[in-house]
Amino acid sequence: MEYSNLLYEKDGGIGFVTLNRPKALNALNAALMKEISHLMDQIAADPTVQVVIITGSGEKSFVAGADITEMQPMSAVEGRNWGKFGQATFDKIEKLPQPVIAAVNGFALGGGCELAMACDIRIASEKAKFGQPEVSLGITPGFGGTQRLSRLVGKGRAKELLFTGDLIDAQEAYRIGLVNKVTAPEELLNAAKALAQKIMSRAPVAVQVCKAAVNEGLDVDLDSGVAYEAEVFGLCFATGDQKEGMAAFVEKRPAKFTGK
Ligand code: HXC
Repeated sequence: MEYSNLLYEKDGGIGFVTLNRPKALNALNAALMKEISHLMDQIAADPTVQVVIITGSGEKSFVAGADITEMQPMSAVEGRNWGKFGQATFDKIEKLPQPVIAAVNGFALGGGCELAMACDIRIASEKAKFGQPEVSLGITPGFGGTQRLSRLVGKGRAKELLFTGDLIDAQEAYRIGLVNKVTAPEELLNAAKALAQKIMSRAPVAVQVCKAAVNEGLDVDLDSGVAYEAEVFGLCFATGDQKEGMAAFVEKRPAKFTGK
């Protein structure tokens, strides 16, 4: 597939995705969402990609939401289908085997905040602004925002953001646990890449299994979650990386992981 609304490049083990509709502040229209969905399938099947970074083009915006001009004429059925398509697309990001870092360079509003929340880790520029302003448009969030926001920041804070539609800055997003880290704008991509490099230096299978275990566990009770963890923990002992990681520790040398 030719991508015309996003840029994708591979840099070492990093799959670098830039959402690229700067004139519309990278708003998510159907064409861009189809490209994201397609690209996530490609990345899931590409073992040369170890970590994914998603950012927005331009100085101002990560993603300013779903494209309002496309949604304006929608019927109820079209709205539901659009929501379901977006949810399925963001689910692909959340369930991607590889870790995904959102490098939030500016506005992350509505569907943009929902996209950032579907990523595993969020790093924000000091210029970033977050919010779910849908109630000002007469709608609710529809790409998972009512669910992921409360899981990330708790019920009370999520409800305040959802009911008011208020925007918060990067420091406030950090304070409430919506982002992992805040950087100067010019440092944002370096910080995302440095984090990606650190993750890539660890045992790749173990990293992917950690991601899956956290995701699985959040949807089930604690007993089921720890039971899943015991199984995948055991399976790690079938990997070369476990043998290498522990041998390297005992031999007092850096480990050389192969992801096998
Ligand atoms: C379509 C958008 C857009 C959007 C911005 N633009 N956001 N187009 N959909 N979500 C366009 C503007 O119309 C404008 O186009 C250009 O981008 C620049 O935006 P400005 O408004 O001129 O910039 P500025 O004054 O700096 O304001 C920035 C802003 C504002 C605060 C981010 O653009 C804004 O409030 N945008 C909408 C944010 C929002 O409500 N998002 C939630 C959408 S609902 P022109 O052609 O005039 O230059 C949603 C639901 C998800 O996401 C779930 C769906 C199921």
